[in-house]
Amino acid sequence: MTVTANPRQAEAWNGPVGTHWATHQARYDAMLAGVNDALFGAAAVAPGDRVLDVGCGAGATTRIAARLAAPGHAVGVDISAPLLERARASTAAEGLANAAYECADAQVHRFPADGFDVVVSRGGLMFFADHTAAFRNLARALRPGGRLAFVCPQPPGEHSEEARALGLFARLVGEEPGPEAVAARGAMASLSDPGRVREVLSGAGFCEVTVAPVSVQAVWGRDVADAVDFLLSRFPGRPLPAGRLAELEAALLPHASETGVRMRAGVWLVTAVRP
Ligand SMILES: C[S@@+](CC[C@H](N)C(=O)[O-])C[C@H]1O[C@@H](n2cnc3c(N)ncnc32)[C@H](O)[C@@H]1O
Repeated sequence: MTVTANPRQAEAWNGPVGTHWATHQARYDAMLAGVNDALFGAAAVAPGDRVLDVGCGAGATTRIAARLAAPGHAVGVDISAPLLERARASTAAEGLANAAYECADAQVHRFPADGFDVVVSRGGLMFFADHTAAFRNLARALRPGGRLAFVCPQPPGEHSEEARALGLFARLVGEEPGPEAVAARGAMASLSDPGRVREVLSGAGFCEVTVAPVSVQAVWGRDVADAVDFLLSRFPGRPLPAGRLAELEAALLPHASETGVRMRAGVWLVTAVRP
């Protein structure tokens, strides 16, 4: 990667955050898989399409896009080298020849003008210092009439079982978020207001903007022990105090099922068109 307008994100996603996502690739993919149907239903990728997957991480959605687009292709772009290493390995292991990856900051990278029919993203568009500039750059990469479809988190509300469980966990480990954690959460929530999403996309030159709520089941583990292990891994150096494990397990138990520990969470499904 050469130029970045987002040095803090580059540092985080090439440092501990990206390493955690790469190490726990399967867990994050299971957690996020619930949005795939809504995302690709809206993206309507057709055979022959050229698809750009922004903030593709370990490339799960790039590979879905590549399969839908064949004989077209999909390109995943991400600022994180460790995640792209995982993406390339998974793509090779699956024998997919029409998916490729680029390490770049999507806010400023010079994509080929009019080079894509569809831009998708599963939670990879919230981390820009200048959202309007970033979406203008993506609009330029789309051909006229090209579609944008992405998901981003809703504000955590009463309806979010996931937010309740994560809040409880943070209290149990006595988390005192440092400036990095505060900045990460701020970035995560940067597109949580639909009014702001519409303003940014219109400002970047998109039309036909829609923002719809989608309720998803996030899978946090195969069983309660696996979910606790995953949650603990996200707070290195902050073990659960003695006696608190039972409290956390009790909070997760109602969400345990034969198909894993599932918690309801809300995302926005956003679509727009390049005029
Ligand atoms: C929440 S993760 C989602 C990853 C992936 N879309 C998935 O569903 O597994 C956000 C991703 O955005 C990437 N990212 C953050 N800022 C970026 C930027 N300016 N340009 C490109 N990618 C970026 C991160 O490296 C990370 O892989």
